Amino acid sequence: MPPNAVTRARDSLEESERQALVALRAELHRHPELSWKEERTAARLLRALEGAGAVDVRRVAGTGVVGRIRGLHTNGPRVAIRGDIDALPIAEATGVPWASTVPGVMHACGHDVHATWAIGAAMLLRREPALGDVIVVLQPAEEVGGGAAAILRTDALDGVQAIFGAHVDKRFAVGQVVAESGPLAASADTFTIEVVGRGGHGARPHESADPIVGAAALVTALQTIVARRIDPAAAAVVTVGSIHGGSAPNVIPESVMLTGTLRAMLPSVRATLHDQVRTVATAIATAYGLTANVSLDFGTPPVVNPTREAEWAHRAAARILGDDAVVPFGITNMAGEDFAFYLEKFPGAFLRIGAREPGGDATPAHNPHFLPAEESIFVGSAVLAECARTAAEGIMRRRETAADGKTKEIA
Ligand code: NI
Repeated sequence: MPPNAVTRARDSLEESERQALVALRAELHRHPELSWKEERTAARLLRALEGAGAVDVRRVAGTGVVGRIRGLHTNGPRVAIRGDIDALPIAEATGVPWASTVPGVMHACGHDVHATWAIGAAMLLRREPALGDVIVVLQPAEEVGGGAAAILRTDALDGVQAIFGAHVDKRFAVGQVVAESGPLAASADTFTIEVVGRGGHGARPHESADPIVGAAALVTALQTIVARRIDPAAAAVVTVGSIHGGSAPNVIPESVMLTGTLRAMLPSVRATLHDQVRTVATAIATAYGLTANVSLDFGTPPVVNPTREAEWAHRAAARILGDDAVVPFGITNMAGEDFAFYLEKFPGAFLRIGAREPGGDATPAHNPHFLPAEESIFVGSAVLAECARTAAEGIMRRRETAADGKTKEIA
């Protein structure tokens, strides 16, 4: 949509840098690797990060890579930028010359672009540094939800005061950016319920306790959690994704197993879902003379951008692309994103970077035809670099204000 915005992002990089980034993206795309298997990707990104002028470049958390771009002041505020690097078990159908050469594996979520714009941001920050050091994190295993937590168990982000990351999004035109406060991605938790009865002959049900009838009632009852227990204005999902039980038409089995996923945009709603799944499963089981063994696994928390850091991100995007390029999200996104783990520890913001070519398709991520526009590499690079600069300025200003003692800390 905003052609000026794209031109401005593009022009912030030199021609040789743009060529290097486009080539890097194509190379990563051609050799996609699944979560925790990003060996070749990590080796390539390590070289690229060193080439971009980062210091202390090293492998972390298995297949992760981290490096530091020096800021103007050694004691300036330390800010981090994160790009994820893993691919998905999907057979590519884009037909581009640099399509995946790995059967059944594809960069279908744009993480090849995310890794590339982290390198692009490093190039830009080397040329025009932030007030303090910027840590560039190339994170493995976002798709399985374990990479961010693994990075956080290392010392890679020690001393960081704010963190920024983004995702390509073909619902938005290239040049458009979403940088706003509030919920941006849902929590993604899983549950397993074993409904245990007493097996018997299908012809004499009164001699048994039938877990199939109980499980059927439970599937229906679980749907009342969102319908009757959650504020209609708050988004939530309870999905039973698998149900297994029984072995023959005339046998009542001993047990039935159900698994499912829980999604919520707010921590309080997430807690209610967990609580209610347990309550409903136990109560239904009791009503049918059964027992329910419920286990709830915490996956990624919701991504909720805090106000101040989202405001910095908004300002950064507007500085690079112009005010018109920063657009409202306007979407309730029930997908999960493990950037949420960083936001539990540090303030920061997660952005959506438009990736639809003018007149192009809005193919969703995780589709075998998914291909973000090339120019989104330049937009992401420029916006994330500016986020780091803007955040460092903001943190420095707060420090000075606090030191002044004239004004209380700005909220
Ligand atoms: Ni993704």
